[in-house]
Amino acid sequence: MTLKNTEIQKAEGKLGVLIPGLGAVSTTFIAGVMLIRKGLKLPKGSVAMMGKLRVGKGDDAHYVPIKDFVPLADLKDMEFGGWDIFEDNAYEAAVKAGVLQKPDLEPIKEELSSVKPWKAVFFNDYVKKLHGTWVKKAPNYWDLAQMVKEDILNFKKEKNISRMVMVWCASTEIYQEMKPGVHDTIENFEKALKESNKYIAPSMIYAYAALDLGIPFANGAPNLCNEIPALRQLAEKNKVPMGGRDFKTGQTLMKTIIAPGLKARMIGVDGWYSTNILGNRDGEVLDDPESFKTKEVSKLSVLDNIFQPDEYPALYDGYHHVVRINYYPPRGDNKESWDNIDIRGWLDYPMQIKVNFLCRDSILAAPVVLDLVLFFDLAQRASMYGIQEWLSFYWKSPMFEPGEQPIHDLFVQLMKLKNTLRWLMDVPPVTYLGSETYD
Ligand SMILES: NC(=O)c1ccc[n+]([C@@H]2O[C@H](COP(=O)([O-])OP(=O)(O)OC[C@H]3O[C@@H](n4cnc5c(N)ncnc54)[C@H](O)[C@@H]3O)[C@@H](O)[C@H]2O)c1
Repeated sequence: MTLKNTEIQKAEGKLGVLIPGLGAVSTTFIAGVMLIRKGLKLPKGSVAMMGKLRVGKGDDAHYVPIKDFVPLADLKDMEFGGWDIFEDNAYEAAVKAGVLQKPDLEPIKEELSSVKPWKAVFFNDYVKKLHGTWVKKAPNYWDLAQMVKEDILNFKKEKNISRMVMVWCASTEIYQEMKPGVHDTIENFEKALKESNKYIAPSMIYAYAALDLGIPFANGAPNLCNEIPALRQLAEKNKVPMGGRDFKTGQTLMKTIIAPGLKARMIGVDGWYSTNILGNRDGEVLDDPESFKTKEVSKLSVLDNIFQPDEYPALYDGYHHVVRINYYPPRGDNKESWDNIDIRGWLDYPMQIKVNFLCRDSILAAPVVLDLVLFFDLAQRASMYGIQEWLSFYWKSPMFEPGEQPIHDLFVQLMKLKNTLRWLMDVPPVTYLGSETYD
């Protein structure tokens, strides 16, 4: 991340929120913002909207809501645009997703129905379980990217938008590794676009279109997408903030809450077995082994980073970490997860922890989308660009600069986020030294 060197621009005018994928997460997010700005619901789960920062010391110390501390966009100024491989508008998609109940959707039915998806960039090889009908056709991938740009620029003009942010909320694509000669430089990537190279995923085309237009890009799924060097370079070249990957919700959120506690008390771990049942479209997509592999890699990376088995072999060397996701339609979006953690304490005596989390996946993800939209917009107005490590708090697999390490511990991530906000506003960071006991 490159740090600010100028004043933060004011959040004036409308903020366009561009979303590939009008599914469970994004419609829950959009509907939520519409309900909140009507004063009908509270933005629970959003750190940007509900969180506070303590500033000052001793008698001067006081808590300030984050939304008043930094100049964030007003929810009333948000306009939503998106793409999907199905033609359903956001209201119809929300009803199908079945996350929010109809009485909650009623007061915003008209507004939500007005969000109609543009045709998607979609290649079936990348999401094998879905067969979309609302899909762009063009002679090559370069032309597809131009069509995505046209959608964005038309939307900007039509809605009189001054700034935009794109958040990928579409399905998880198959597992992919970086391909030299295609993904490594902007030039190779653009050439590969013109040749419709098979190593270019749809998510990369959306990310390319956004970054090329100077629009911040956040990747909510675990696909490779903007991680590739070509798109990192494009973000640096155009001075655009970006980040990813994979919203931190559900079981992984729990993991990054519990694991730092075990580690802090030097409690050993023999194994951590995690299993889930999930019945929404995301679950169906993840039922394909190639899409699941992408998710699995993202979910598995978390514990190693927190436990540091190389530094603490007596506690964590060779611990077993297993993650399973089972598609089970009756549950819809209401995922249930079970964790069995085999731990070891004093004199190597074994103990167990069982966690049974009955969560609602999209209810946890929607405030993450909101915070990312608000903070990526803030980052851009503060002239911060490249990977935004200070937003690691929101990701299962936070992107990081080459040669650095990602941070997975939720509490370290939160401190980094809050201290970055303090730094932006020229307030001293909190170090917990001396009598500084605030967060
Ligand atoms: N819900 C969570 O807690 C959570 C957490 C982390 C990551 N995610 C990720 O967020 C994404 C969305 O999750 P969801 O539950 O909303 O899934 P969903 O299946 O309900 O929605 C995804 C939507 O994307 C559409 N789509 C697929 N490929 C597309 C393309 N190329 N262009 C445009 N649209 C496309 C699908 O038709 C679908 O409507 C998934 O990748 C999921 O893995 C979700």
